[in-house]
Amino acid sequence: MTQRGDVEAFEAAARLAVHRAGAILKQRWNAERRIERKSTAIDLVTEVDRACEQAILDVLTSSFPEHAILAEESGAHGTHEFLWLVDPLDGTTNFAHQYPQVSISVALARSGETILGMVYDPVREELFSARRGSGAHLNDRRLQVSTIADLDSSLLASGFPYDRRERADYYLAFFKGFMMRTQGVRRAGSAALDLCWVASGRVDGFWEWKLKPWDTAAGALIVEEAGGRMSDFEGGPFDIFGNQTLASNGTIHEQMIEVLRPLL
Ligand code: IPD
Ligand code: CA
Ligand code: CA
Repeated sequence: MTQRGDVEAFEAAARLAVHRAGAILKQRWNAERRIERKSTAIDLVTEVDRACEQAILDVLTSSFPEHAILAEESGAHGTHEFLWLVDPLDGTTNFAHQYPQVSISVALARSGETILGMVYDPVREELFSARRGSGAHLNDRRLQVSTIADLDSSLLASGFPYDRRERADYYLAFFKGFMMRTQGVRRAGSAALDLCWVASGRVDGFWEWKLKPWDTAAGALIVEEAGGRMSDFEGGPFDIFGNQTLASNGTIHEQMIEVLRPLL
C-alpha cells in the first residue's frame, strides 16, 4: 500500500517539477528557438525541451533518488516499482511556432499502474491533476467529463502521428469518419492537454494513433478520475505502451468505437 503521506510527497514533487518547467517555457517563449529534427523532418526538439526535462529530473531525482524515470528526451533511468513518466514539453511543434498550446506532463506509476498524473498548461496557468481514487482537478476545481450522449452533438479532438506523411490517407480516413459524424474535430497539437480537455468537458472525446507513454500516462488517469473512459480502438483495455488511445466522456465511447472499427 502507498501511504497517504507518500502520495502527498509525490504530488508535491510533481507539482514543483511541472511549475519549474513551466517557468522555463514562459521565460523562453519569446526567445529565438534552436530547432533540431529527431526521427523525421517533422519530429522536432528544441533546447527548451531538454532544459525543461533537466529541471524536472533534478526535482524528481533529488526527492526520490531510488525511483525509476522514463523521460522523452533522455530515455530510461533505473528500474524500480515506482516509475515516473515525463514529457517535458508536449507540443514541441506548437512551441517552435509560438502557437500557445503546450503542456508539461508528469505521471507516477507503481508496479505498472498510474497512481498520480499532472499536466500543466503554462500559457493558461491551468494545472490538471489526479490521484487514483481521489478524482481529478483543474487548479482547485473538481473536474467532470461532459454529459453529451450523442456522437452527432459532440466535439472531438485528435492528432496525427509522426509517420503521417507516409500514411496520410490511412490517418485521414479516421478524421473523415469523425468529421462526418460530429459537430467538429480539433487538432490542437498537445495530446496530454487533449486528454485533459476531455476530462474537463471542453471536448467529448479524443483518439490518436501511436502516442507514447509520456504523452498519455498522466492525461489518461485524469480522464478516468473525471468520470471518463479510456480504451484501445475496439474497447479493449487502454495501455500507455500500446498504439491506440481512445478517450471519451464514457457515454459516446461505444459510438466512437463504431466509427473506428470498420476503418482499422
Ligand atoms: C506530440 C503532441 C502531439 C501529438 C504527437 C505527439 P511532442 O508530442 O502530443 O499532439 O499529435 O503525436 O508526439 O512531440 O510535442 O512531445
Ligand atoms: Ca509528447
Ligand atoms: Ca515532448
